[in-house]
Amino acid sequence: MTETSEAAKPQVAADAPRVLKVALLGGGTVGSQVARILVDHAEALAARAGARLALEGIAVRNIGAPRDVELPRELYTTDAEGLVASADLVIELMGGIEPARTHILAALRHGASVVTGNKALLAQDGATLFDEADANDAELNFEAAVAGAIPIIRPIRESLSGDRITRVLGIVNGTTNFILDAMDTTGAQFADVLAEAQRLGYAEADPTADVEGLDAAAKAAILASLAFHTRVSLDDVRCEGITKVSAADIAAAQDAGLTIKLLAIAELVRGESGSEGVSVRVHPTLLPRTHPLAAVRGAYNAVFIEAENAGSLMFYGAGAGGAPTASAIMGDVVTTARRIVAGSPGRTGTATRFLPMVGPEGITTSYSIGLEVSDQPGVLSRVASVFAEHGVSIETMRQEIDGAGAEAGVAPLADGARASTSTASRAQLRFVTHRASEAALAATVADIKNLDVVESVTSVLRVEGV
Ligand code: HSE
Repeated sequence: MTETSEAAKPQVAADAPRVLKVALLGGGTVGSQVARILVDHAEALAARAGARLALEGIAVRNIGAPRDVELPRELYTTDAEGLVASADLVIELMGGIEPARTHILAALRHGASVVTGNKALLAQDGATLFDEADANDAELNFEAAVAGAIPIIRPIRESLSGDRITRVLGIVNGTTNFILDAMDTTGAQFADVLAEAQRLGYAEADPTADVEGLDAAAKAAILASLAFHTRVSLDDVRCEGITKVSAADIAAAQDAGLTIKLLAIAELVRGESGSEGVSVRVHPTLLPRTHPLAAVRGAYNAVFIEAENAGSLMFYGAGAGGAPTASAIMGDVVTTARRIVAGSPGRTGTATRFLPMVGPEGITTSYSIGLEVSDQPGVLSRVASVFAEHGVSIETMRQEIDGAGAEAGVAPLADGARASTSTASRAQLRFVTHRASEAALAATVADIKNLDVVESVTSVLRVEGV
């Protein structure tokens, strides 16, 4: 090689910063914050990522719509497909199933990596996305899909990948935690607190996905898949929301040193054959007020993990909001960019085995059951005998007399527990059971309802952490 030909080569320095083309799909609350961080902190991000993150465009439905953050108008486009086609890294923040799914798959197929916060899509069809990412050696990261700003996906996928997670308990929906916390603090009924939460902007005008537990169920499916290295979809999650939780339930919980939280619960369980399976459910749950999750107030989220070697861990923080969620997205963006630069996209490693789902028949839980009964001699023994017939063992029993609000009987239930001598015609009984199967509990409740001395079963709540 002559000196002349050497001098003719293009003068690109070996250490010239690499440029990664970034496509942002969605310019809403989170998307605007992501764009702001990409633009305002470009230098710092380039230094951390090892590549300049060039925001090529923001795909939106309506270019003229008002935005939370002011950005150059030429960044906006309605051509998501075109933006994705030339990108190295796609940030998907459109939400919903389509067209998000199509754009993510298109990006992965041409080898671009993807960062998304799309819990609905991951919970419904995560397997297709993971397989496509692996097939194309592309990155697929989704820290923002569960519990907003809280680092929980990466700790499960990476930090705990050498351990064996046995259980995950999560407060992963801020709206319901805000409502239950306000009911606990004020003694108000669900409907009143929901109306106030809507007025303050903590609850959506249509709160169904939150209060019926569907949002938490999608997050539970994602957490369970990752924690147990298997595939769990939204359809596998049993789900009950908080709409039936009453002020009386909250007051009774307080009396017993408990609080009510909407928990996403994912656990490894042994089926009747002794083989391992997975149970994933979302429901209002009584927790001791001393449990770390009981201290999670307002709209905050937290995830409590039990692992064989690490023991108990808790992750806590803001579960929603533009800037907090953008923080999780940007963490994924920098991590993804580093791996692209290093030329070593990690395998998604999401499923290494296929564990069967275990239904209610395979799960035992403690229950709290509230009854309104006639206050007369012999009622308690008739109710107690129904528990005994179904092999459900009572741990504690409390009684309150209507009108008096006084506690007449206190746990633990002992032989000869005294019947009330009050002249009031109704009494409230609240039983807490030892662990029982859902089938045995359901049969017990059905038979108790049929007793002529029972006016109504006022609540059935599961208890954890006792
Ligand atoms: N609606 C959710 C919540 C936030 O209330 O926590 C987004 O998942």
